[in-house]
Amino acid sequence: MKVKTPIPSRLDAPPPGWTARADVVVVGSGVAGLTTALRVRALGLSVLLVTKATVDEGSTRWAQGGIAAALADDDSPEEHMRDTLEAGGGLCNEHAVEILVNEGPDAVRELISWGARFDTDPTGSISLTREGGHHRNRIAHAGGDATGAEVSRALVAAVAADPGIELVENALVLDLITAEDGRTAGVTLHVIGPGQRDGVGAALAPSVVLATGGFGQVFGQTTNPYVATGDGVALALRAGAAVADLEFVQFHPTVLWLGPVAQGQQPLVSEAVRGEGAVLVDDAGRRFMIGEHPMADLAPRDVVAKAIMRRMRATGASHVWLDGRELGADTWVHRFPTILASCRMRGIDPVTDLIPVSPAQHYASGGVITDFDGRSTIPGLYACGEVACSGVHGANRLASNSLLEGLVFARRIATAIGDDREGRGSPDVGMTNGADQSGVISNAARRALQQTMDTDSGVLRSEDSLHEASHWLDQAMSTSQGKPCTEDWETTNVASVARVLVEHATQREETRGSHWREDHPSSRDEWRVRLVTTMDTDGTLRTVMRPPSWVPGIEED
Ligand code: SIN
Repeated sequence: MKVKTPIPSRLDAPPPGWTARADVVVVGSGVAGLTTALRVRALGLSVLLVTKATVDEGSTRWAQGGIAAALADDDSPEEHMRDTLEAGGGLCNEHAVEILVNEGPDAVRELISWGARFDTDPTGSISLTREGGHHRNRIAHAGGDATGAEVSRALVAAVAADPGIELVENALVLDLITAEDGRTAGVTLHVIGPGQRDGVGAALAPSVVLATGGFGQVFGQTTNPYVATGDGVALALRAGAAVADLEFVQFHPTVLWLGPVAQGQQPLVSEAVRGEGAVLVDDAGRRFMIGEHPMADLAPRDVVAKAIMRRMRATGASHVWLDGRELGADTWVHRFPTILASCRMRGIDPVTDLIPVSPAQHYASGGVITDFDGRSTIPGLYACGEVACSGVHGANRLASNSLLEGLVFARRIATAIGDDREGRGSPDVGMTNGADQSGVISNAARRALQQTMDTDSGVLRSEDSLHEASHWLDQAMSTSQGKPCTEDWETTNVASVARVLVEHATQREETRGSHWREDHPSSRDEWRVRLVTTMDTDGTLRTVMRPPSWVPGIEED
């Protein structure tokens, strides 16, 4: 299907005022970016590590639950695979999942060798807990509920100790630079100094790894930090790379409810709280997950989020409640110190009180489509972690598979970069893509855009609501006149991602995984396909259907 849109195919930015060179540019400093940087360095290549804020400010540090891996004696990669496929609603790429679960345990051990400290039991073995959709205890955690912070700490320290990694902070990635033969030659960046690297510049390298995280800021309420504006997906789209599965936006079922007008990043209440025994109840104190799914409160995330939404609609309530009182003070203090502090700061004591919770945007299961080694459809451009669509999540990511995906595929990308470089010289640089349509959308439109996405393309969607959303976006994008500055570039990225997301959600006339269509409430066999989109230089989106097993060939059109 072809749809003409006003999405710009290049950002309006001044010409680069400075140039940096490296063997590999890694964009993003979450688990995927940091692991890629360390693994690439092991090949003896130089790395320019670019991060949008400071090095420890990505989504990784907010991860509470942990890392899923078949580490226990009573577990196996096969069982982990079964749970991942079930959560993925029939759209996972089975070979990608096989890689994830088989290579996961070693990737976790390597992380430990880099200094990450996981919580252990009295015998010294890693403590493992359970989250929604897992039939085994297989989630390794750190600092109780501060796994991401610990993983980030260990990786940042390892990166800082390596003089072959140059770090550029406060740098927003703008557009891909390609050589005459279409290969990647680097990226343009906007850096907010001080230092030599100030303003718009070019980071040149034959290999660029996007590890920019998610696009939570497309929605008004999200667990993602403010930096999650979909920069990597939007850049890839503008460069002509294929993106897939954007309609599968995961809404975390239990986000602390802060009132009807709360906006931006919202505090997460980890699924691990339910893994340790907490249960969901409605205003009348009824346990509504019983009977919804055989795993009740520990059903896969999409099942729980939908059940909560249905209960809220049925009762007219603005949220439901999480009852963790049975856990007792000791468990709350030692196992969930972050969540306990976050609740108490807002006057809720989970030891004695029910916690008000409702779903909010949490994770993008889709993104820049890659092969099994992180290669996008543009030679020399790789994607890793939440920005990527490696096929491991399908229609709905299994809890705690995200840090694992970052670790496993970062290792494979580093190997692929080493292989792909062989026999190739540096590309000719200085070319940008042949954009017909450049432009920037004003940041003044962001709040209204997020409200539109929450209302019309959020947890619950329909043809009518999606039509409203796409109409609103097209209108706003064609009339808005932004300036070349960070906030407007980010909002352009948010709007570009939103437009493709809405397009996919409109086309997918079924309910599957985290995509819930009110007007098409069941899954349909003919929709057991992925929607893969590329954008022409005039903003035309071309969307094709591919089977879940499809993997892009790097030479493909
Ligand atoms: C959670 O702790 O509930 C979130 C973990 C995840 O998103 O995988």
